[in-house]
Amino acid sequence: MKGIILAGGKGSRLYPMTKAVSKPLIPIYDKPMVYYPLTVLLMSGCDEIMLITAPPDVEAYQRLLGDGSQFGVHIRYGIQYVARGIADAFLIAEDFIAGEPCCLILGDNLFYGSDLDDLLHVASQRREGATIFGYPVKNPTAYGVVEFDENNNVLSIEEKPQRPRSKYAVPGLYFYDGDAVALAKTLTPSARGELEITDLNRLYLEDDRLKVQLLGRGFAWLDTGTVESLMDA
Ligand code: G1P
Repeated sequence: MKGIILAGGKGSRLYPMTKAVSKPLIPIYDKPMVYYPLTVLLMSGCDEIMLITAPPDVEAYQRLLGDGSQFGVHIRYGIQYVARGIADAFLIAEDFIAGEPCCLILGDNLFYGSDLDDLLHVASQRREGATIFGYPVKNPTAYGVVEFDENNNVLSIEEKPQRPRSKYAVPGLYFYDGDAVALAKTLTPSARGELEITDLNRLYLEDDRLKVQLLGRGFAWLDTGTVESLMDA
């Protein structure tokens, strides 16, 4: 399976920490943050990985991760010239993905839990449609929010809704079948000028091909967007 790490974005809420350094390169305890999403891709069985980042940061990632051989995988690099949103990764990585299933993870999302292995295995084995995750949070308005019924059928997915229909945020980890690139090409920019991953997921939902897996008790999802959440991580 192909894997993508999106390490774009300015990290402006962490300035001046991220003024000269790409956010996923700053350390979480003893490793650069990007090691954690990279580990998730390795655990998902990805052997070919594309790391997408902004032009000034490519060299630093190459210095850190090289061609991936130290991790037993192939890593190549994609450039996002303009911060056009998460779903833009599929346009940048079109040739790399080559119509195959793919896992996308954000460079600043950390997952921790004893059953992570099983969870990733189930999601990566699904060959049809898309899989997202749901994690209960106190401030769902800051995230993509998924609503589902008692059988975990997805009912709605919304990006930063003012009135969230559930308390389940959608973390930055997504599994797609081979249709993601073609669907991403049909997206138009949102009010914030981005190709929203939530809009791509909604296309799968409208086609009845979106699954949600819940990250339950004993599981931690850490988003490192703010100084406080970075300290928590
Ligand atoms: C992005 C996504 C959002 C998701 C979040 C996870 O938000 O748009 O759906 O819940 O990542 O970190 P952003 O970081 O662009 O505000």
